[in-house]
Amino acid sequence: MVVYCHLTPYFVTLWTRTMYAAFMLFLFVCMTATTNADHHQPCHSPNMTGFMSVMNLKGEVKAFGAFAYDSMGKKLRFRSNDSQPTNTSQGLDLLMFFDEGIMYEIDTKNQSCEKKALQCTLHPLDIPDDATFVSTINSGSASIEGEGLKLNMWKGSMADNKGHYCISVTMGCLPVNMFYFTESSSFFFSNTDVELEIKDPDLLLVPTICHDQAVEETVYSFFNEFM
Ligand SMILES: *[C@@H]1O[C@H](CO)[C@@H](O)[C@H](O)[C@H]1NC(C)=O
Ligand SMILES: *[C@@H]1O[C@H](CO)[C@@H](O)[C@H](O)[C@H]1NC(C)=O
Ligand SMILES: *[C@@H]1O[C@H](CO)[C@@H](O)[C@H](O)[C@H]1NC(C)=O
Ligand SMILES: *[C@@H]1O[C@H](CO)[C@@H](O)[C@H](O)[C@H]1NC(C)=O
Repeated sequence: MVVYCHLTPYFVTLWTRTMYAAFMLFLFVCMTATTNADHHQPCHSPNMTGFMSVMNLKGEVKAFGAFAYDSMGKKLRFRSNDSQPTNTSQGLDLLMFFDEGIMYEIDTKNQSCEKKALQCTLHPLDIPDDATFVSTINSGSASIEGEGLKLNMWKGSMADNKGHYCISVTMGCLPVNMFYFTESSSFFFSNTDVELEIKDPDLLLVPTICHDQAVEETVYSFFNEFM
């Protein structure tokens, strides 16, 4: 869908606009569609490797980088790609254990590691079990082969009613777009170049520099890292 371009100013603008257009459409459908009372059960995404980008509502790219996801263990590693620098995420390296509600912020250059507790274990690669099915949409063309993408959209509320989310997934349950709207900020996540395997399982192991770390602070959720 979205082609990531090298960071020349023109392409940054183009890419941001494309993302923004996709985002507006996504938001519109999610907020206006009447919820479908079908007996859809949220699916769970498979093991994946891919790229994830994070943008806020001002159109600023907050992070872009590679991720690895273990769907059974609910483990996610995200490392920002420093060849695509953004203001907030330079050198960002996160390892998240959603079942345990723990997140490690790793700094390999500095050989340091911070362990944080997550109050809200919602995450961008899975549909929560209590999500509500919104609808199935055809992005692009439904009738021209290879020119469309059929997506299932889900929405729900975050813990303590602190916000809302909307997630769209392919028919095979690959998350494509995720939108989070909270009182203080909103984020749009987008996945590209997804493959159905964990290419480097070691990325999902706690690095030695993080061993024996005590929880330093509790944050609301992983997206505090992108504020
Ligand atoms: C997903 O990855 C984990 C960790 O590498 C592995 O234990 C599990 O078997 C994988 N699941 C599938 C369905 O491949
Ligand atoms: C950084 O991003 C480019 C594409 O934008 C990709 O080719 C490259 O492999 C990425 N590097 C890492 C370390 O993820
Ligand atoms: C970084 O921040 C500066 C000042 O706030 C802004 O002008 C610039 O566009 C930002 N760059 C990126 C890549 O977001
Ligand atoms: C190294 O880590 C410490 C503590 O985590 C941090 O305060 C400091 O800014 C880091 N230094 C560099 C060069 O990243």
